[in-house]
Amino acid sequence: MGRQVVFSGLQPTGNIHIGNYLGALRNWVRLQDEYDTIYCVVDLHALTQPQDPVVFERERLEAAKVLIAAGVNPERSLLYYQSKVPQHTELAWILGTLTQMGNLNRMTQFKEKSGQGSANLGLYSYPVLMAADILIHHAHKVPVGEDQTQHLELSRDLAERFNRRYGEEFPVPEGIIPEVGARIMSLQDPAAKMSKSAENLGSRVLLLDDPDTIRKRILRAVTDSGTGITYDWEAKPGITNLVEIFSLFTDTPIGEVVNEHSEKQYGEFKLLVAEAVIDGLAPIRRAHAALEDEEVKRIMQKGALDARSSAEGFQVGVREKVGLGG
Ligand code: AMP
Ligand code: TRP
Repeated sequence: MGRQVVFSGLQPTGNIHIGNYLGALRNWVRLQDEYDTIYCVVDLHALTQPQDPVVFERERLEAAKVLIAAGVNPERSLLYYQSKVPQHTELAWILGTLTQMGNLNRMTQFKEKSGQGSANLGLYSYPVLMAADILIHHAHKVPVGEDQTQHLELSRDLAERFNRRYGEEFPVPEGIIPEVGARIMSLQDPAAKMSKSAENLGSRVLLLDDPDTIRKRILRAVTDSGTGITYDWEAKPGITNLVEIFSLFTDTPIGEVVNEHSEKQYGEFKLLVAEAVIDGLAPIRRAHAALEDEEVKRIMQKGALDARSSAEGFQVGVREKVGLGG
């Protein structure tokens, strides 16, 4: 038996923040020890929002570079751009024929984004392409943040539906969603998740932010009234979010963090959090500065070749089952 396969994807637009890192990316890196890991910069998904082509191309390269700097090792993981492997979209079409519109109408991400007035067919079928991303590689495990659970559920349904209709083909994929860190909240509004697209730059810390910026963002984070460092999402979401960030960056269990710092003033604790984030991100900034664009481009080209050949290996079986083999 070979190792199980892990697959995950990240959209290349906007800057990667510590929510992406703590919820997903950090686990991507760790899983390289135990699994065959496949990571994808999902550029076609990003096209569901309007993009300036020149900026988009640059952001796509930048996303790949940040992934590598954060520890995705191209010698251990398959890393590539989704658009370079057309088997993804081919499988998405086939899976689309198994998808009920009712399933897609229920997707909260679609409801949110289409409510902002930018609904298009790509946005609607976004979760089907995501299912294809996962299933094309016969992945078993999918490390993601909490906001992807509904999409993941559809991927599982589609795997089962395909297997029932055409015969056993796909493993039914399971999420790897961390107990702590799956939903890092905005530093300016602890009721909203930290997001790449929020207008207020103060709401997030980016993976490549310099120490001064990080300090400023954390010290200005919205905290709750009262004093004392506690872990309580209901009563003190602002400080709880910082406790979680601190716990993850220092690899200290939440209980220990709270015990040790319960008496501290908010300002004092924020300084500690800022230093922990600065220290945690320093190696990523250093690795990023040392990486040449040309090297990243070579890595991504090689990744695309390998991913195409492995995806094609599986897709042959899918075509045969559906009656598109000959
Ligand atoms: P995206 O930027 O939407 O491509 O997300 C990349 C990964 O980061 C996905 O696995 C998301 O679930 C995860 N993610 C995004 N925002 C957060 C957040 N605020 N907290 C934890 N994980 C997140
Ligand atoms: N929808 C995911 C996000 O916004 C990105 C994504 C696309 C993905 N395809 C995937 C994640 C496959 C995991 C597996 O974060």
